[in-house]
Amino acid sequence: MFEVIEKEMIVPNLHLLTVRAPEIVEEIQPGQFVIVRSDDTAERIPLSVSDWNPPEGTLTIIFMEVGASTGKLASLKPGDSIPTVVGPLGRPTEIDKFGTVVCIGGCYGIGSIFPTIKALKKKGNKIVTILEARSRNLLYWEEKMAPLSKHLFCISRDGSTGHKGHVKNSVEILKQNKIIPDRIIANGCTFLIYKSSKDLADFNVPIIVSLNPIMIDGTGMCGVCRVTVDGKMRFACVDGPDFDGRLIDWEELLKRRKQYVNEEAFLVHNSGCGGI
Ligand SMILES: Cc1cc2nc3c(=O)[nH]c(=O)nc-3n(C[C@H](O)[C@H](O)[C@H](O)COP(=O)(O)OP(=O)(O)OC[C@H]3O[C@@H](n4cnc5c(N)ncnc54)[C@H](O)[C@@H]3O)c2cc1C
Ligand code: FES
Repeated sequence: MFEVIEKEMIVPNLHLLTVRAPEIVEEIQPGQFVIVRSDDTAERIPLSVSDWNPPEGTLTIIFMEVGASTGKLASLKPGDSIPTVVGPLGRPTEIDKFGTVVCIGGCYGIGSIFPTIKALKKKGNKIVTILEARSRNLLYWEEKMAPLSKHLFCISRDGSTGHKGHVKNSVEILKQNKIIPDRIIANGCTFLIYKSSKDLADFNVPIIVSLNPIMIDGTGMCGVCRVTVDGKMRFACVDGPDFDGRLIDWEELLKRRKQYVNEEAFLVHNSGCGGI
C-alpha cells in the first residue's frame, strides 16, 4: 500500500497528491508517469509525476478531477493508503544543452513540466516559461518556476493576469521579446498541446509534447494508446509519451480520446463523484 502524505486542492478542480513510493522515486526522471488506482476496484489511470523528494521517498502528482477515477483520488486524505502506484513508466523527456528552451504548461501540465524545467536549467539552457490558464485563479507554482526561468510569461484567457489570450499569443510574446527558441516543450491538456504544435510551428524547431491518450496497461501490451507519428504507429506508453507535435496525426488522436465518453459519463453518474 502507498501512504498518502498530502492531498490538497491547489486551484479549483486541480489537486496535488503526494504519496510515499521510495522505489519509484529512486528511478524516476522528468517526463515519466505512474499508473495509479485509488482502491481495489478502481480503474488504472496514468498520471505524470510533477515532483519528487528522494530523502523522503515521496512523489507528487497534480491531477484534474474530470471523472470517476480522479474523483476518487480527489477524496483521499493524508494518512489514507492506495493499493497501486506503478512506475516509473514511459521514456524520460530528452534533457540536453539545446540553448533557449520555451516551456509551455497549462492545467496539470504546469506541474508536470516542472521537473523538465529543473533538469534543463541544470544542463545550462536558457529557460523561457509560459504558463497558460483560463483565469488568474487557475495558475499555480509561478514561485517555483520563476527562479529557474530567464523569462516567465503568463497568459490568461480572460486577461485577469499577464497577457490576454491563448497559447497562440506565445508567438507575439516571443517575437516582442526577441526570443528565438531552439526547442519548444509543451505539457497539458490535449487542446493546449495540439494548439502549441500548430501555432508555434513557424519557429521551425522541435515542439515536444507529452501525449495523454487513453491507456490501460501502460507497458506496450494492449495497444490502446497507439498514435500515428510521422506516418508510423507508436505506443505512447513505451515509445512516448513525448513526441514532436509537428508529426502527430492529431485528428486520429482527438477521435480516439473520445471513444469511451458515454461509458465515462455513466460511471460518473453512478459513482457519486462530481466529475465534470
Ligand atoms: C501519460 C499520461 C499522463 C497523464 N498525466 C496526467 C496528469 O499528470 N494529471 C492529470 O490530471 N491527468 C493526466 N493524464 C490524464 C488522466 O489519465 C485522465 O484524466 C484520467 O485517466 C481520467 O480518469 P477519470 O476516470 O477521472 O475520468 P474519465 O471519466 O475516465 O475520463 C475523463 C477524460 O479523461 C480521458 N481518459 C479516460 N481514461 C483515460 C486513461 N486511462 N488515460 C488517459 N486518458 C483517459 C477521457 O478520454 C476523458 O476525456 C495523463 C494521461 C496520460 C496518458
Ligand atoms: S497503454 Fe497499453 S500499449 Fe500503451
